[in-house]
Amino acid sequence: MTLDSTLAWRQRLGGAKLPFVDSRIYTDPQIFQEEREKIWRRSWLLVLHESELAEALDFRTLSVADEPLIVVRGDDGKVRAFLNVCPHRGALLLREPAGNLQKANPSGSPRRISCMFHAWQFDSRGKCLSIPRRNAGYQTRLECEDVRLHEVACEVAYGGFVWVHLGENPAPLAEHMGSAFEALRPHLEAEPLEVFHHHKAIVRTNYKLWHETNSEFYHDYMHHFNRVTGMQQPGYYDRRYETFPNAHVTVSSMEVRYTAYEHDEHALANSRDLSFPGLERNGWKLLDLFPGATLNLRGSALRVDTMTPLSHDRVLIEFRGLGLKRDTAEERERRVRDHNTIWGPFGRNLPEDLLGVTGQGLALRTGSEGLHMLHGRIEDATIHDETGLRHYYEEWSRRLGRLASAPYGDESGPRAKEPARLPVFRGGVLAQ
Ligand code: FES
Ligand SMILES: [Fe+2]
Repeated sequence: MTLDSTLAWRQRLGGAKLPFVDSRIYTDPQIFQEEREKIWRRSWLLVLHESELAEALDFRTLSVADEPLIVVRGDDGKVRAFLNVCPHRGALLLREPAGNLQKANPSGSPRRISCMFHAWQFDSRGKCLSIPRRNAGYQTRLECEDVRLHEVACEVAYGGFVWVHLGENPAPLAEHMGSAFEALRPHLEAEPLEVFHHHKAIVRTNYKLWHETNSEFYHDYMHHFNRVTGMQQPGYYDRRYETFPNAHVTVSSMEVRYTAYEHDEHALANSRDLSFPGLERNGWKLLDLFPGATLNLRGSALRVDTMTPLSHDRVLIEFRGLGLKRDTAEERERRVRDHNTIWGPFGRNLPEDLLGVTGQGLALRTGSEGLHMLHGRIEDATIHDETGLRHYYEEWSRRLGRLASAPYGDESGPRAKEPARLPVFRGGVLAQ
């Protein structure tokens, strides 16, 4: 397809009457860099759940927009976030994905964050405790009080989730969220939650495509399990999207009929009697948060997706499953099974979504022509309406100062300078 024919296609189909975005927003490395600066460095981001930092001095390391971070529960019980970078000369401080500071790291002391390079040491609140041979080298020009770890805005809210924001003095999280959490809050805040499942995948696609698949249900045609237990059941087409400021979206509930798939004689069907507090039995609510997190509450299990975009064509997705902290061993076992049969790495649902977005990742390549990605289903905000996609890209366009439908400022835009890279398969496996 040439650009001319793409334009002709658009004109034929009515332009603004049929909303779309230009596919180069997924494939242009320059746009990805801008997103990092204008979106990911300037948004509240859900990064983990407080149950993953259950004990004082528990920590996890992660990265946001290429900034390495430590999230640590202090000796005072408070959760804080710091750059995982030594203020002396920039070495990475903690190198494990998770741990507890009771255990001393190389060249350090227990209960401290110690830099292995020149052994500066900090406490769990970011205070500098020790600079080796400070007086000999710095005399009165530098005291421990003059340095500390760079603290990043961090809040714990909405059912114990930990949020960070890289910007200086950001507006409070509650302001960014508005009332987007109201539908889920009663179920998440009734009692403490706990993460029981966590897996990560580096997926070869643009991160926005993953958020899109979490923001539209039209692709239930891909999911046999969802078709049988949802789409063919009463209430499915009554589900509605509600949009909120800052591009958050919720989807209203329905009762999932697991028995339609699992059949009465199957043990699984009879075991699905656990649901989150206040949620109708096997109800199903969903919340999509800008720029890339989803909370998916279905019956007994809450699934939370978060993303770390790595490049324009690769994203690290973290999948968590949560239940109630007070679960008995038997209840937890049922929740884990309910979660994993659908949303585990080999569940009935999740791998299909991954096939969908990696198919897009294979087809939409840097240097390819800009395709028109249709976001044009308008069905009074009911379940196959693509209002979630349109709502997202209104905010995206505002943040970037580029229209998602015309990111280069005119109808055609420049051709990408790089030649198109086509996928290469060897022995049926993607080789590049
Ligand atoms: S870089 Fe950390 S102590 Fe020198
Ligand atoms: Fe899906």
